Amino acid sequence: MRSLFRLGKLVSFLLLIQILPAVAEEKAENKRPGQTIFADNKRASLKAMRSISKSLGVKCTHCHVKEGNKVKYEIDTPNKKIARAMKLGFVDRLVTAGESSIEYTHHDEATKVRAVLQIKGEEVGIYLTKIEGGKTTAEKRIALPAKGETLNCKTCHMGNVHIFEQAVKIH
Ligand code: HEC
Ligand code: HEC
Repeated sequence: MRSLFRLGKLVSFLLLIQILPAVAEEKAENKRPGQTIFADNKRASLKAMRSISKSLGVKCTHCHVKEGNKVKYEIDTPNKKIARAMKLGFVDRLVTAGESSIEYTHHDEATKVRAVLQIKGEEVGIYLTKIEGGKTTAEKRIALPAKGETLNCKTCHMGNVHIFEQAVKIH
């Protein structure tokens, strides 16, 4: 009985190691070397990375970790995940739908940020709200990107990771 069980385990293990390379290959096929969600090739990706660092006023290691003396860019970190979600679920959706929100955990605190695009009327701009524990804790209006410019990280961050620090806080 026991050896049968072991055999079953061995078989499923063997199946697993057969499947794994197939999954890895599929991933590699979809993604070209150096391609990121920000750009299509290595050079453009690095350019985008420098621009993001500048927009947020942070170093590369705000989102990437060092192992020994080398930065391991492919390892995921909490800030890297937020940055990815900012780009994919939040900024892109804001552009297409006119409003969007994002939820993330920062220093163990659940945070929700909401953005609404107001492109008509007198008070045009991007309206940002921060919601913590179900309560609105900060609000801010940001200017729309200038004509011909795209809405990107710099539009809202303007060189600061923390957008609301200088904003009026409502408690
Ligand atoms: C605000 C966070 C943030 C900062 C700051 C940042 N990065 Fe990134 N970086 C990311 C994210 C997110 C990805 C993954 C993109 C993806 O999923 O396609 C990434 C991916 C990369 C990659 C590709 C890794 C891979 O998996 O192939 C390189 C190389 C890289 N970054 C270099 C840099 C350099 C150099 C800097 C500083 C100039 C920098 N990054 C600053 C968030 C950041
Ligand atoms: C529509 C406005 C807007 C845009 C565009 C935007 N962000 Fe944000 N982002 C925010 C707000 C608001 C916060 C919360 C800031 C705070 O807590 O003061 C935030 C927070 C973050 C944080 C977490 C900071 C922390 O440590 O708490 C990261 C990382 C981040 N953004 C990355 C990005 C990246 C990368 C881009 C571009 C792909 C981007 N953001 C574009 C509004 C924006």
